[in-house]
Amino acid sequence: MTTPFRAVPVGDCIYWVGAIDWSIRDFHGYRVDRGSTYNAYLIRGERTVLVDAVKAGFEDEMFARIASVCDPSEIDVVISNHAEMDHSGALPQVLERVKPSRFLASPLGVKALHAHFGDLGAEAVKDGDTLVVSGGAAPLTLRFLETRFLHWPDSMFTYIPEQAFLFSQDAFGMHLASLERFAEALPEHLLDQEAAKYYANILMPFGPMIQKLLARLDDMNLPLVTVAPDHGPIWRERFPRILEAYRRWSSSTLRPKAVVAYDTMWDSTDLMARVVGESLHEGGLDVQLMPLSGTHRSDLATEVLEAGALVVGSPTLNNQAFPTVVEALSYLKGLKPAGRVAGVFGSYGWSGEAVRQVEEALTSMGMELAGSTKTLYVPGGDTLAACRTLGLQVASALQERLVGEPQPV
Ligand code: FEO
Repeated sequence: MTTPFRAVPVGDCIYWVGAIDWSIRDFHGYRVDRGSTYNAYLIRGERTVLVDAVKAGFEDEMFARIASVCDPSEIDVVISNHAEMDHSGALPQVLERVKPSRFLASPLGVKALHAHFGDLGAEAVKDGDTLVVSGGAAPLTLRFLETRFLHWPDSMFTYIPEQAFLFSQDAFGMHLASLERFAEALPEHLLDQEAAKYYANILMPFGPMIQKLLARLDDMNLPLVTVAPDHGPIWRERFPRILEAYRRWSSSTLRPKAVVAYDTMWDSTDLMARVVGESLHEGGLDVQLMPLSGTHRSDLATEVLEAGALVVGSPTLNNQAFPTVVEALSYLKGLKPAGRVAGVFGSYGWSGEAVRQVEEALTSMGMELAGSTKTLYVPGGDTLAACRTLGLQVASALQERLVGEPQPV
């Protein structure tokens, strides 16, 4: 059966031929409440080029979109900008069906593709290499730029100088299923929210590498009219806004904001959390309380992205920090949110190891511990006073740190 999905023109002789995943809700542990897209692009010049592919299972949708422009067998060159399987999963079927004369990836991309699929005949292109798609009066050139760790070591950008068109694979993407292909057709607050969630959960560990890449792009002074990522909408006039956000996020520019992440057994740690939260607010911070019994780790990571303080509350359960707290801390540790001011609190019944365990977890992430407090069973007046002091201490430590720091607008 031929499905009626169609390609969408997104540039001069450039088409979006990707797939929309309306039903995905878990992307390797990151909750994607609004689904996702796997963006692939077709370039029709003297040669026909496919840039990236889709997740396995979505190849029929992609082939249908390609077939609305040309016979897929006309594809002469296939480019893999990133080997993660949400973009490479359908490549074996693509190569089998299309039989391109060239299949290109970065040197590390060739290795990664081989490790995933065996020998697919990928050929390495180096940073700065070019490929002529069309010559003559209407030239069209592809230029390859290695972008290691954005998102994987293999990642690269593909740039068309004649159209100032950048295929940016994971960079500047977001998980957002939509029939709109361009960012300007979507509400700004939605773009801000989903781009931040994507950055926090996918790219936060790679801030220093992203800083270097942005500096390199600045040095190259690349004109950018269209930036086409592998997930979510394509950027045109709104690109400066997300570029500025990437500068902010990758440099760990922090806001006067505290996240209070906690769980509770018999409401004691919950009460402590509410008192800590109010005192953080009294200390001049924006405050977000996140009860981990009902908060997904990827939403916690999103709130932590720009927060200057993280305060964690945990009861002690069988000599351990509470399971939801342990899970959240393990996930956050991998995202490397160093440099925040931290605080810890919790109620316990017998031995009370949780506070120390959480302190160790937060300091091992490179956070500065401003204070902690714990209480036996139910917090009384002294404990609640200590919680208030903790919140004020954390707020004060963060405010001192932010003096003179540029604040995001
Ligand atoms: Fe969208 Fe790193 O893959």
